[in-house]
Amino acid sequence: MQRYAFDVLGKVAFGFDFNSIGNPNSVYITAFDEVQKTIFNPLSLIFPIDRVPIIRQQRLKKVNKLNNIFNEIINEKYKALAAGKSQGDLLENMLNACDNQMLSDSELRYNLALFMLAGHETSAIALATTLYLLSTYKNVQEKAREEVLRILGDDLIPSADQHRSLKYLNMIIQENLRLYPPAPALIFRELTENIKIKDTVIPAGTPIELFLYGIHHSPKLWNNPEEFLPERFEKNDYADSENYSWLAFGAGTRTLVLRK
Ligand code: HEM
Repeated sequence: MQRYAFDVLGKVAFGFDFNSIGNPNSVYITAFDEVQKTIFNPLSLIFPIDRVPIIRQQRLKKVNKLNNIFNEIINEKYKALAAGKSQGDLLENMLNACDNQMLSDSELRYNLALFMLAGHETSAIALATTLYLLSTYKNVQEKAREEVLRILGDDLIPSADQHRSLKYLNMIIQENLRLYPPAPALIFRELTENIKIKDTVIPAGTPIELFLYGIHHSPKLWNNPEEFLPERFEKNDYADSENYSWLAFGAGTRTLVLRK
C-alpha cells in the first residue's frame, strides 16, 4: 500500500513515475525509506548521535542520494514542459513560484521532501484501514459498491463532480479517518493565553500537541465512539464543523493543504 500511494503521489503531484510497485528494489522508495528511518531513529531522539563524524557522514550520504532524486524529478519536469507536456501539477506550481522568486531552490527541495513524507504514508494508512473496514463490514461494502457502480458507470477515473456525488463513500472515508486517523497528533501549537484544566494552569507560550486519536474516540464527543458507523456523517460534515471533534486533516492555518 505504501508503494501504491508513493507511485500515485509521484504521478499526480510531480508527474514522475517512481515505479516502486513494478520494481521492488526501486532506488526512489529505498532512498526515501533510508532517510526516513534515520529521522525517526529513536536513538537520535535521545542522544545527539549525528555529532559522531562517521554517523554524520553516513547520514549525509543518504540525504545526498535523496537530493539527487529531487534533481532528477525536477529535470524530468523541465524536459516534459519543454516538450509541451504540462499537467498543471503541484511541482509545476512550485517551479512557477521559483521563477517568480517566491520560492528559493532550497525551499523547493524542502517542500518536495515534505510533500513526499506527508503525502504517501498518510494516504497508505488511510487506504489500508478503509479496505480493512470494508472487508469486515460486508453490508457497508455492498452499499458502497452499488453507489460507485451507479455513479461512475464505465468511467474508471472519477471526475471532481462524480467524486462529490459519492456521498456514501465519502461518509465511509470520514468515519475511517475518525476511527484510525493516520496522523494521530497535530503539528505543535503555541498557547496564546493561559488555560486552566481542572487545577492545572498551562501558561501562554507553551507548545502543545493535540492528541487527535483521543478526541476522535472520546465518548464526550461521539456516541458509541468505538463503533464503525458511516451514517454518523450523513447530516454533519464534521470536516467543516467548528467544534473540532473531527480533526483528521487538522484545522486552522496549518491544516492539510489538500483537504478539499
Ligand atoms: C488521508 C490522507 C492524509 C491525512 C489524514 C493527512 C493529515 C494531515 C494532518 C493531520 C496534518 C496536520 C494539520 C494540522 O496540524 O492542523 C497534515 C499536514 C500536511 N499535509 Fe496531510 N494528510 C493526508 C494526505 C496528504 C497528502 C496527499 C499531501 C501532499 C501531497 C499532504 C501534505 C501535507 C502537508 C504539506 C502538511 C503540512 C502543512 C503545514 O506544515 O502547515 N497530506 N496532514
